[in-house]
Amino acid sequence: FRVQSAEFSAGAAAGNQIPEARHVEIAFAGRSNVGKSSLLNMMVQRKSLARTSRTPGRTRQINFFDVSLVGGPTFVFVDLPGYGYAKVSKTEARDWKVLLEDYLQGRTTLRAVVILVDARRGLEQEELDLIEFLQTRPEIQIVMCATKLDKLPLAAQKPRLQELSKDAAVKVIGTSAESGGGRVELWKRLVWIASG
Ligand code: GTP
Ligand code: MG
Repeated sequence: FRVQSAEFSAGAAAGNQIPEARHVEIAFAGRSNVGKSSLLNMMVQRKSLARTSRTPGRTRQINFFDVSLVGGPTFVFVDLPGYGYAKVSKTEARDWKVLLEDYLQGRTTLRAVVILVDARRGLEQEELDLIEFLQTRPEIQIVMCATKLDKLPLAAQKPRLQELSKDAAVKVIGTSAESGGGRVELWKRLVWIASG
């Protein structure tokens, strides 16, 4: 999968700043610091297209990126702000929820949400809530990724992915932004979703 171009198109801090939907859209969701921005960069093979940080809660708005594959479709990749970061105020957490729900509810071109969980941590209540919410929108595919797989010893990776797949009741793709692991498998899934 060769990326022809990848560029930032817009950032939205409020519902009325969300840009008009144009292409097949794929959103990356998950708890703060799980590696959403890093996975997005890994997919497009650009080191710092989406801003990453050691400090959780770095991505505070919804960022939209136009991504086109050589000979393939154009996607919009959406980097969502992370949830579950304890240090944000109640007001901020509520604003965030409103923004996310505004986005998820009305988005007709949204075809898939990639839900990221840390391979070492697994699914928690927030992920189950998100899955439940998305099940009310069956036209949106759910793709599960287990991030930071490189942080597990090699021998533990496969059994861990099997365990996570059982918990999530879908096949979980193991990813590593460090090694590029999972890139081809995730692209295959996204291209299949775009074509279907
Ligand atoms: P927010 O925007 O705050 O919600 O975080 P995020 O989910 O976008 O996480 P981000 O991509 O900024 O990554 C957080 C930290 O984890 C950074 O220090 C990354 O370098 C690190 N990280 C992300 N993915 C991986 C991975 O696959 N392997 C390893 N070892 N580190 C990773
Ligand atoms: Mg981020």
